[in-house]
Amino acid sequence: MKLPSYLSLFLLTSNAAPTSAFMTSLQGKSASSTKLRSTTSDENPIAVNPLVANVKVSATVQIFSNVKQMQAEGIEVTSLCVGEPDFPPPQAVLDAASKAILDCDTRYTAVTGTAPLRQAIADDLLNRKGVKYDANTEIVVGNGAKQSVYQGVLTTAGPGDAVIIPAPYWPSYPEMVALAGAESIILETQEKDGYLITPEALQKCLDDNKDKNITLMILCNPSNPTGGVHNKKRLEELAEVLAGHPKIAILADEIYERLVYNDSEEDKHVSFASISPEMYKRTMTINGFSKAYAMTGMRLGYMAAPKPLAKAATTIQSQLTSCAGSISQAAGVAALKNVEESEMEQNVQIMREKRDYVIGRLKDMPNVELAVPPTGAFYVLPDVSKFYEGDDTQLCLDLLEKKRLALVPGSSFGAPGTVRISYATSLEELEVAMNKLQEFLEECD
Ligand SMILES: Cc1ncc(COP(=O)(O)O)c(C=O)c1O
Repeated sequence: MKLPSYLSLFLLTSNAAPTSAFMTSLQGKSASSTKLRSTTSDENPIAVNPLVANVKVSATVQIFSNVKQMQAEGIEVTSLCVGEPDFPPPQAVLDAASKAILDCDTRYTAVTGTAPLRQAIADDLLNRKGVKYDANTEIVVGNGAKQSVYQGVLTTAGPGDAVIIPAPYWPSYPEMVALAGAESIILETQEKDGYLITPEALQKCLDDNKDKNITLMILCNPSNPTGGVHNKKRLEELAEVLAGHPKIAILADEIYERLVYNDSEEDKHVSFASISPEMYKRTMTINGFSKAYAMTGMRLGYMAAPKPLAKAATTIQSQLTSCAGSISQAAGVAALKNVEESEMEQNVQIMREKRDYVIGRLKDMPNVELAVPPTGAFYVLPDVSKFYEGDDTQLCLDLLEKKRLALVPGSSFGAPGTVRISYATSLEELEVAMNKLQEFLEECD
């Protein structure tokens, strides 16, 4: 494929990964090699651990860094790639972080986090989600939810084990499972079901894989990249199926739980751990401060889980990073204790308006399908498979080249034929982006 010179930026990689690896990952193919150990290059005799060499570079992060590079070179690019709110963190958070610096609150903390933060998290989970965790032994604060997810995977899955990952999925899940030496079982969901997991599909997946040692299922709710929200009734149905498989732990990634747009009682977000005492025992709840409080760069997340699981995650963390940043932790206490609920609700309302705008525009675009509009997080995953014979990667490359609009190809989320749009940006930027997308698709017709 011949690319214009500036587009090679799109394919530039970080120091950590060869260009071909990114190309391959963008093209939705495994970057893995069958060799057990291969050296980094002909000149360099040092071999990279095959577990690492086989891990794909995150297409989202990669595209985002290339967009930044293009922008730095004066090329105007509209980017709807990244999963980061455009509003600043609440003032209470900024004040607490500043105070922590001035107070020289700069020492290591306990591995699991400061006592005030763990208590604030336990209180928040009890008050808003109705799940009770011991702040001393069942909360593990980490450097972002990403780290907490990885520790949850390592806690429950290793070589010889298998992990169920519903697709479309957050791309880090299968890579984390691979890093743990375990195998991913992809549970396909359907666009017509709003990409939600049905109890029938889960049952079938378990039946089809009964020869495997399934130790973990990942449940991202609300979902990145689909924006789908499994409501209480659906979670109860899934729990009923899982009750027949008592050895499977559940990693409930609920980092987008604050961003749910259906107000009805039956659709409000509930934590999977609250579904039943049995599910509580088996669930590791993951949450963080990046999405709800726009604290992405502060790197703060957590796992809440029954003691044996939390203890194992603590052991891993003690050897990896010791603890999350002390200043971020002070800011996290303020986020949970000093931010008014009305401010949180206002952010949800603003995000809902953006979602409505994007959905409205997509509906007007011929041959773009969005069977069930998303009701959570800040993503839409429209089906654009009628274009480019379903080659979403080429579509995204051409969209960037011709219109300077960056979207992430659905292939990287296990959803070929789709593109992921993050609407966590200003309404003005969204309007420009939707105009560009519409023009581009009209020109394709
Ligand atoms: C589904 C999901 N889980 C976890 C994370 C990690 O969030 P962080 O590490 O910023 O807390 C993200 C970030 O994009 C996400 O989309």
